[in-house]
Amino acid sequence: GLRRATNVHWQALDVSKASRAGIKHQKPAVLWFTGLSGAGKSTIANLVEKRLLSMNHHTYLLDGDNVRHGLNKDLGFSAEDRVENIRRVAEVSRLMVDAGLVTLVSFISPFRAERQLARDLVAPGEFIEIHVATPLDVAEARDVKGLYKKARAGELKNFTGIDSPYEAPENAELVLDTTRFSSEELAGQIVTYMAEHGYLS
Ligand code: PPS
Repeated sequence: GLRRATNVHWQALDVSKASRAGIKHQKPAVLWFTGLSGAGKSTIANLVEKRLLSMNHHTYLLDGDNVRHGLNKDLGFSAEDRVENIRRVAEVSRLMVDAGLVTLVSFISPFRAERQLARDLVAPGEFIEIHVATPLDVAEARDVKGLYKKARAGELKNFTGIDSPYEAPENAELVLDTTRFSSEELAGQIVTYMAEHGYLS
């Protein structure tokens, strides 16, 4: 098994999160997007990041498809691997918040327990859970990547919403209705929420 490091202690450092973020006049936070495959997470997260950038904020976007090509390329889609995928991403997002960034995280993140773990890694008020609440039938009808078709045909196992569970958030800070609003409108709702809650002073 894994050999854990012993005699490793937390080192207090002099430059704080607030001073790292202060040069950009922003309150660092995690914008955690969760939802089914094809719900629109990446599209909306991208639009939010562009808007924040145009307002001169310092951001970073962690996206499932991309992180799975690098840091998490050893992981698949079993429940166990999804747990580890989200655990690592939660730790990375904690580091990025510590670096003072507005950190956008776009993963299916299907399990409540791992999203709670991610929330608990940062301070109260630093975690904004955003449920991209596209219903399964709508995501499946869009089927942008053709993955639902493969999953229904049995060519793709453990597909979220088909033969792998998705646990919808119960207390998300924001619930986005993609059947009533455009991605641009929803990105605007998120930026408005951030401005109203003091993240973008
Ligand atoms: S998870 O559940 O949070 O670990 O998933 P994530 O890292 O976000 O990766 C989801 C993207 O991987 C593609 N894909 C699958 N999704 C769900 N189930 C299975 N079995 C699967 N296989 C591949 C899919 O393109 C997801 O992209 P999005 O952008 O969410 O549609």
